[in-house]
Formats: sequence, structure tokens, C-alpha cells
Amino acid sequence: MKVVGFSGSPRVKGNTEFLIETALTQLQKQGFETELVRLGDKNIEQCSGCYSCVKLKKCSIDDDFPQLFQKMMEADGIILGSPVYHSSITPKLKALLDRAGFLGRWVENEMKSDGSGYEWKGTAFSGKVVAPVTVARRAGQNFAFAQLLLWATVLDTIVVGSNYWNVGVAGTGGAVDADQDTEGIGIITHMADNMGYVLTQLKK
Ligand SMILES: Cc1cc2nc3c(=O)[nH]c(=O)nc-3n(C[C@H](O)[C@H](O)[C@H](O)COP(=O)(O)O)c2cc1C
Repeated sequence: MKVVGFSGSPRVKGNTEFLIETALTQLQKQGFETELVRLGDKNIEQCSGCYSCVKLKKCSIDDDFPQLFQKMMEADGIILGSPVYHSSITPKLKALLDRAGFLGRWVENEMKSDGSGYEWKGTAFSGKVVAPVTVARRAGQNFAFAQLLLWATVLDTIVVGSNYWNVGVAGTGGAVDADQDTEGIGIITHMADNMGYVLTQLKK
């Protein structure tokens, strides 16, 4: 089984990446295959709202999205990590989630010809185990964390938490110091244990 962690930070080896790697390392110890995917160097346009994926079952924008969606599809578990930017997740992660969420719904469902709705048949993310992770210097965690949580819970995924919300506190003055956040490391490690447990139970 595979767990893929998507980092919405533009910073290589920053705080978000450290926390995602903390989770992935813990999952590796339990025998999971893992991969970290950095969005910072990817070209991900925002959703154009063209609705062509409803019929074509693919996104009409020509950028790095198809390979990222493919990685999401290959994953049994998905960790969505973002630094908090003005109380929000970063634009690239939002763009990925908008497009993946919409396409993920329409690859599994057919809109009625009169546009009146559809008979729900699940989504491409149904049954995948998802963990949101945010990291902030001080404030705004709740909104950013909620963005990830709301995405995960509208797409028929199974969300894992921890002994606290899956958040880290780091970055005063731009520092890469998530390794000093011992409480955060404990929370993320326990989240990884929960994800491993849920995935193992689901695949029995
Ligand atoms: C443009 C920008 C906006 C930010 N907004 C917030 C914020 O709203 N609240 C907060 O506590 N920290 C804020 N921060 C700090 C980052 O969330 C923090 O430094 C985080 O640890 C960076 O993670 P990274 O190293 O993975 O990029 C902001 C940083 C930047 C660059």
C-alpha cells in the first residue's frame, strides 16, 4: 500500500515538508511505500471552470496536473500538507484540490442530459484515507486546516486525525524549525500511526 504526501509549500525542505516526512517515515516503518510530492516546482493552473471534465473525464488544461492526479489515484493514503498563508492553504495546493476534486467526481458520474443532476456513484477518491496537515508561525491554522478537511469530506474519503489537530507551529522570522516543535512531531507521528491502522484494517 502506498501513501503519498503532497506539500503545498514553495520551500524545499521547509516546515511543511519536515512534518510530511515525519509522517511518511513513520509509515515506512510499518511497511508502507511512500512518496513526497512537492507542488512548489509544478505548474498547476487554477481550475478554469470550463466543466469539460464533466463530459471528457479529463482536465482540458495542459500543465502538470495529469501526473499529479495520477499520483493521487495510485495512493491508498494521501497526506495534504500546507503552510498557512494569510490563514489559507497555498494557491498551488488549492488549484490542485479544485481540479482533482472536480475531475474526481466526474470520472465516476454522468450528468443527466438535461443538466438536472446525477446519480451518485462515488468519486475517484472514495475510500482513500486522507490526512490534512498545516503549519503556521502563529495563527490561522483553523481556516487552512478546515479547507483541507472540507475538501476531504466532500469527496467520500476517510479522514484521520490525531491526539490534537494535525498541525505544526514553526517559522518565526521565516525559520525552518519544525524539528523543534516536539508536540507537533508527536501529533503528526500519531496521525501516521492512525493512518497506518486505518489502511491496514480497510485492506483486510
Ligand atoms: C506569504 C506568507 C503568509 C503567511 N501567513 C501566515 C499566517 O496567516 N499565519 C501564520 O501563523 N503564519 C503565516 N506565515 C508563516 C508560515 O506559515 C510559516 O513560516 C510556515 O512554517 C512556513 O512553512 P514552510 O517552511 O513549509 O513553507 C506566512 C508566511 C508567508 C510567506
